Amino acid sequence: MNALMQPPASESNVPRTQDERDLLHYAGRLERPTKVKTPELERSGRLRHVIFSGQFSVELLEELGGVADAIRLISKHRAGQDFLINLLHHKRAMLYFTQPSTRTFLSFMAACQILGITCNEVRDASTSSETKGETRFDSIRMFSSYFDLIVMRSPLARLAESCAYLMNDLERSGSRSVPIINAGSGADEHPTQALLDIYTLQRTFSFAGPNDSAHTSRFEDLRRLPGCENLTKGLDGKTYAFCGDIGRGRTVRSLAMLLANYENVRLVFIAPDHPSLVMREDLRQRLEARNVRFYEFDSFEQQLDGRPVIEQLDALYMTRIQKEHDTAADSEHSAAIDFSRYCLSPELVGRMKPYAPILHPFPRDQHFGEIPPEIDDDPRAMYFRQARNGMWVRAALLAHVFDVDGQIMRYFHGNFGV
Ligand code: CP
Repeated sequence: MNALMQPPASESNVPRTQDERDLLHYAGRLERPTKVKTPELERSGRLRHVIFSGQFSVELLEELGGVADAIRLISKHRAGQDFLINLLHHKRAMLYFTQPSTRTFLSFMAACQILGITCNEVRDASTSSETKGETRFDSIRMFSSYFDLIVMRSPLARLAESCAYLMNDLERSGSRSVPIINAGSGADEHPTQALLDIYTLQRTFSFAGPNDSAHTSRFEDLRRLPGCENLTKGLDGKTYAFCGDIGRGRTVRSLAMLLANYENVRLVFIAPDHPSLVMREDLRQRLEARNVRFYEFDSFEQQLDGRPVIEQLDALYMTRIQKEHDTAADSEHSAAIDFSRYCLSPELVGRMKPYAPILHPFPRDQHFGEIPPEIDDDPRAMYFRQARNGMWVRAALLAHVFDVDGQIMRYFHGNFGV
């Protein structure tokens, strides 16, 4: 394993590289509670750096969802596209992705293009001067010389957060400093994925009809169906199930913590009984500290309120088993597990509530088959729309960071009469 995939070296584990020494420099700040760190990542009441999902309050999620809706609707018209593309055409962004990505990279690029931001990229450190011994921290500081924003994905947990502190230190010393957005950091966090997951749930549970119409909403029809009488709009009061690789899924960790912000939710984690795949202790402790009701199951058939959980959930978040992180011991332990129990089938989907969305951060694994393609045409299959939602809500996030969201909302209200 690359030494930089490890957490910062402790005093008993003397750092060997300058990158490790740089990380150790930030260790004291990294270990503080989220509540203490959050204000340092803001400026004048808005996000400056986006590092973990704990930075998003319900109010901010609602606001970003509203801006994303506005951008989405404005973009349907040529005049609207022209308005958006002129908002940030003076800005440049570096997309520094040293871990593979399709959706996050491309949707950030598309989001930048919607707002007129020019993008450049480093996707493979072997094409950068890191091969000559340059540290990641020097690379980041160099990017900040040329660009106005750094969006970064790294296999190294906490690198994005450390870079945000580096930028804050530069700002304090009067040097050039730019916002950092975490686009996935090791097994740790993927806050903008959680943001798009929430936006997808906001849209789903608004029960708007095609073209966002309230007139063609299915909501009243759904409430007449058996078992749906108590259906409500919004994210509160619902049961959210996660299935698959709970232990190593950074998207699960980020989304679970965001859902914990909503009233009266229940979270169900369905994973094989395998030490690497079940919920990690830190997430368990964080949910307990927030008094969130959660359940750890090993099957869709386990009972919740006297019925199999597959029939009780309001939304299902499927994940891929991340075999690429398996150790030799993991592989040995896996041999006895029937993984097909963690794959959806048309039969299982047929037993779900008629409105319950199926989400997946993607990529799905064609070999594992956690969501077979036969399910793609089901109206509850939300994963392709979820990926497109990522573009809209990431554009909304960029508009928030660069303080042009107010202009977008004024244009929207002025031109769409809402
Ligand atoms: N969901 C997600 O992060 O996808 P990519 O790895 O393709 O960016």
